[in-house]
Amino acid sequence: MANLSFIFCEILMILATILLVVEPVKCYSKQHKALFVFGDSLYDPGNNKYVNETYLKVIATMWPYGETYFKHPTGRVCDGRTVPDLIAQFAKLPILPPYLQPGTHRFTDGANFASGGSGVLSETHPGTVRLRLQLSYFKAVKESLKQKLGDEKAKNVLNGAVYLFSIGSNDYFSFYRTYPNASQFYKGKFVKMVIANLTSVLKEIYDLGGRKIAFQNIGPLGCIPAVKSFDSKLGSACADEVSSLARLHNRYLSIVLNKLESHLPGFKYSIFDFYNAFADRVNNPSKYGFKEGKAACCGSGAYRGEKCGWTTINGTKLYQVCSNPREYLWFDGAHPTESANFQLAKLLWNGDPKITGPYNMKQLFKL
Ligand SMILES: *[C@@H]1O[C@H](CO)[C@@H](O)[C@H](O)[C@H]1NC(C)=O
Ligand SMILES: *[C@@H]1O[C@H](CO)[C@@H](O)[C@H](O)[C@H]1NC(C)=O
Ligand SMILES: *[C@@H]1O[C@H](CO)[C@@H](O)[C@H](O)[C@H]1NC(C)=O
Ligand SMILES: *[C@@H]1O[C@H](CO)[C@@H](O)[C@H](O)[C@H]1NC(C)=O
Repeated sequence: MANLSFIFCEILMILATILLVVEPVKCYSKQHKALFVFGDSLYDPGNNKYVNETYLKVIATMWPYGETYFKHPTGRVCDGRTVPDLIAQFAKLPILPPYLQPGTHRFTDGANFASGGSGVLSETHPGTVRLRLQLSYFKAVKESLKQKLGDEKAKNVLNGAVYLFSIGSNDYFSFYRTYPNASQFYKGKFVKMVIANLTSVLKEIYDLGGRKIAFQNIGPLGCIPAVKSFDSKLGSACADEVSSLARLHNRYLSIVLNKLESHLPGFKYSIFDFYNAFADRVNNPSKYGFKEGKAACCGSGAYRGEKCGWTTINGTKLYQVCSNPREYLWFDGAHPTESANFQLAKLLWNGDPKITGPYNMKQLFKL
């Protein structure tokens, strides 16, 4: 019945739109689950084009970013689709536009607040859309939904939605750059501070109506070409010092989410073990259909770790770019190719509990 009335409502809306009676709004249905995305450059759909800081505005706004799928640079730090783009498609939702993009938005589908350079802590990369600012945008979305749909239906949208996160890498890059020789004690303290701030944001999302949280945990940061290009002593090995911060974070993250589930009625979650999934691809690229797992497709210097897309004023390219990004795990010095993202998104969507658990995203959407 719900489906029939939904279809009926859709037809009415199309007619109404043709007759210009009402603005084209999406019909609300119980089947329709929204996706809200919080995060950093791995998930940014182009929000950075609209931020104040010029150094952030230009991230991935030049060729060859976007060459594979969108055919033009969109601000995604990738040759094509990112993980949340693919998850939206798996969930039969449209690809979510940048939240900061001017114009009307259909928040019944969700919203993507992710922004390159951002972290959990407000001290990380000043000027970025840090996690707390992303949360304030989510609060504005809730208000907008309440005005459009009324309190009850807005609440149903937020309760049914899935909230997807990729955040924390930038906090640890910043920390590692500032304190390369931090003691075990200070590393532990820092990770706890990041986790505490993250936890308080998750609790607020719960209080605002969020129930289903999904995380891509932090990847093997020391294997990132940009990190390796700065330390010639490493050879082809990964920098374990910074990866160890990621591992510690990931351990605390699973403890915290487990605790939240037992304390907050209706709270359900999913953690995709991006760390191990990606480290295995770096070490055994051919097992996953890649020719190259260490160097990036686009960039210059060791491992093509930097300057993808950079040109001089006279038009001289400062980078090389591979002819087939599908053969590469990394597109630029810190971000996977679309073909790598496709494998990652599939694991997040319906991976088995060893890699994505206790629920995967497909199951979260069905709950
Ligand atoms: C940009 O600046 C405006 C005005 O100062 C401010 O309201 C807004 O929050 C800023 N945006 C970001 C992303 O910092
Ligand atoms: C960190 O330790 C290395 C030796 O392990 C040393 O070469 C380097 O100067 C130290 N860096 C700082 C910022 O203290
Ligand atoms: C969040 O991080 C700040 C530092 O950015 C720290 O002072 C504060 O205590 C943290 N908040 C929580 C709830 O841990
Ligand atoms: C363009 O500028 C670069 C240095 O920025 C220089 O090496 C190169 O020769 C210049 N090319 C032309 C065609 O002027």
